[in-house]
Amino acid sequence: MLRRLHHEQPDSFEFTPANLAWAEAWISKYPEGRQASAIIPLLWRAQEQEGWLTRPAIEYVADMLGMAYIRALEVATFYFMFQLTPTGSVAHVQICGTTSCMICGAEDLIAVCREKIADKPFTVSADGKFTWEEVECLGACTNAPMAQIGKDFYEDLTAAKLAEILDKMASGEVPVPGPQNGRYSCEPIGGLTALKEFTSGQTQYNASVQRAVDLGDTVKRIDGTEVPILTPWRRDGGAAVATKPAAAKPAPAKAAPAAAAEGVRPAALAEAREGGADDLKQIKGVGPALEQQLNELGFYHFDQIAAWTAAEVAWVDENLIKFKGRVSRDGWVDQAKILAAGGQTEFSKKVKEGDVY
Ligand code: FES
Repeated sequence: MLRRLHHEQPDSFEFTPANLAWAEAWISKYPEGRQASAIIPLLWRAQEQEGWLTRPAIEYVADMLGMAYIRALEVATFYFMFQLTPTGSVAHVQICGTTSCMICGAEDLIAVCREKIADKPFTVSADGKFTWEEVECLGACTNAPMAQIGKDFYEDLTAAKLAEILDKMASGEVPVPGPQNGRYSCEPIGGLTALKEFTSGQTQYNASVQRAVDLGDTVKRIDGTEVPILTPWRRDGGAAVATKPAAAKPAPAKAAPAAAAEGVRPAALAEAREGGADDLKQIKGVGPALEQQLNELGFYHFDQIAAWTAAEVAWVDENLIKFKGRVSRDGWVDQAKILAAGGQTEFSKKVKEGDVY
């Protein structure tokens, strides 16, 4: 396929301050003179910021890395993951059109895209929400036909199911990715015939889908709430820290019964106490957007969070807009207890040392 830059381009591109800090941190991974190795992550970040990769963005990244524009253009036009034309504000839909998917109904899925999005690929839908394209095998052939929407795979699709998914996404919902015909992963449709003993201890969804559901970022674009990049290699001895396994995360919360999920609202403050609010971003998992939400809910201090009971955690988990479940997922209460007592967590130390962006 001929991959060209779009005929209409914006005048300029700049990383947001947070993304600029992220990009500089990423470049610092590479030895002097090898900064060009960061080209793919930086182009990807630019695409995540804008939804597609513009010519000013490609040139901006090339300038950051000291590369000739043509070298950056070669990378951007070679890899299909870079979108060189504007994409829908909700999602770009990639329909697999290779053998397995084609045999199993990919053409029906493409017909849905033509009808619901636009007659031609890479054309933004009338409501601005979607674009689509046909792509080569995405490696989920046993779950054909399938599509990648945003970051995740929707598998075992039918035309009706894809139409339903697009309608839900248009109305702000994000349907659970993965097999859409009741399969857990890629086992025979009639159920497992071998290795049955490995089914115990399953999560609600298969590992890929469970991860997608836990992260909740299937169609999310960069909005300042991303997990910060750690740069331990910037310190003496940082390499040892970099290779150290991450602290064990608390087990993902099991789905709570509806009544318990409502929880109890913790005591809130009208404003921060004298001396000002604590820097809640020292809690791993709390970025600027979540800190603002917490403040708006009346939570300003580590000791408030440290005192939350299980019922109160359930309430906050339920009432975080777009970040449901983050309190228990990232163990905020345990972290807050350490910070409220004047101690430091491994993460808060990095924040203080400026190693977190
Ligand atoms: S043929 Fe569609 S995922 Fe492989």
